[in-house]
Amino acid sequence: MEMVSDEDSLKSLIQHAVLAPSSHNTQPWRFRLSAPSIELYADLERALPVNDPQNRELYISCGCALMNLRVAVANAGWSSRVELLPDVSDRTLLARITIENAPVDVALAKLFDAMLLRRTYRNRFKEEPLEAALQELLRHAAEMEQACLNIIATEDKRDELIKLVREGDSLQWQNETWRRELAQWLHSGRQGDGLKVPGLVAPLVRGVVRHFDMGRSMASQDSFLADESPVLMLLSTEGDAPRAWLQAGQALQRVLLEAQRHGVQASYLNQPIQVAELRPQVQQAFAMDEFPQILLRMGYPDELLPASPRRPVDEVVAE
Ligand SMILES: Cc1cc2nc3c(=O)[nH]c(=O)nc-3n(C[C@H](O)[C@H](O)[C@H](O)COP(=O)(O)O)c2cc1C
Repeated sequence: MEMVSDEDSLKSLIQHAVLAPSSHNTQPWRFRLSAPSIELYADLERALPVNDPQNRELYISCGCALMNLRVAVANAGWSSRVELLPDVSDRTLLARITIENAPVDVALAKLFDAMLLRRTYRNRFKEEPLEAALQELLRHAAEMEQACLNIIATEDKRDELIKLVREGDSLQWQNETWRRELAQWLHSGRQGDGLKVPGLVAPLVRGVVRHFDMGRSMASQDSFLADESPVLMLLSTEGDAPRAWLQAGQALQRVLLEAQRHGVQASYLNQPIQVAELRPQVQQAFAMDEFPQILLRMGYPDELLPASPRRPVDEVVAE
């Protein structure tokens, strides 16, 4: 097969990369074309210093975009070689992905259609449980990317985690700077990023979020949704530094795409991992040495939600 060398082919791969999830839908990535490679950079102007002071979730989000790139490359019939953090003098260069004429990773190519359908599903899931074989497939997807997907199997563990989610909600909403940061990312859909709220009420919603501690109602809502979700899963990694976070992101996206391929979607319960003082308690609850990165509830959605906004590719490709 002919190798990719033109800008348009590389941009069409990036078109798929940007469909990845990101915290607050910040889309904290930039790409540079250098055929047959694409370089992925962190866009630190899109960081969330209050919600994510170490940029851990920023790296995870970029790792998700990297997984999408790998899937798009495989779907196009090529193979990809990934170097993580290839330049010690520039830590914003997160990855270089080089397209090669080698056997295609068929397992990745199969995830292509799921990229277009994946959504974060914040509503109630159907009651239908996830078959054990599917849970095992998701665990394997994480393992392929050097991460561990812990399935929360007992009531005790579930209750303990839900308690921590409630505490996380309460601590985040008490923090006025956290609320202000969240409000900055509540936009009408026109803007191409952020968490979408209907245009007419957007200023009102932003004002309410900025000024009112809604921790109590958020905690009730999250614990209700978590409690009735078919399954809770915790993604963890051995390390807790940029390389591990990029791996966590690739693993997260591989899990989400594999889930979507089977009609399953996810929503996030990251509060007790985001709040620094609660994160060790999550670790203790699982008696784990690894570092918790992402907490998900998963199940079958009732409907296909509209896609959340994305910036056009030309905005994220640097010259
Ligand atoms: C690292 C990471 C952390 C996230 N944390 C949360 C979260 O705490 N709560 C939440 O509702 N969504 C969370 N999300 C989901 C994003 O808000 C979502 O991906 C974004 O709004 C785009 O929507 P989409 O996933 O439907 O494309 C997170 C996503 C990522 C990748």
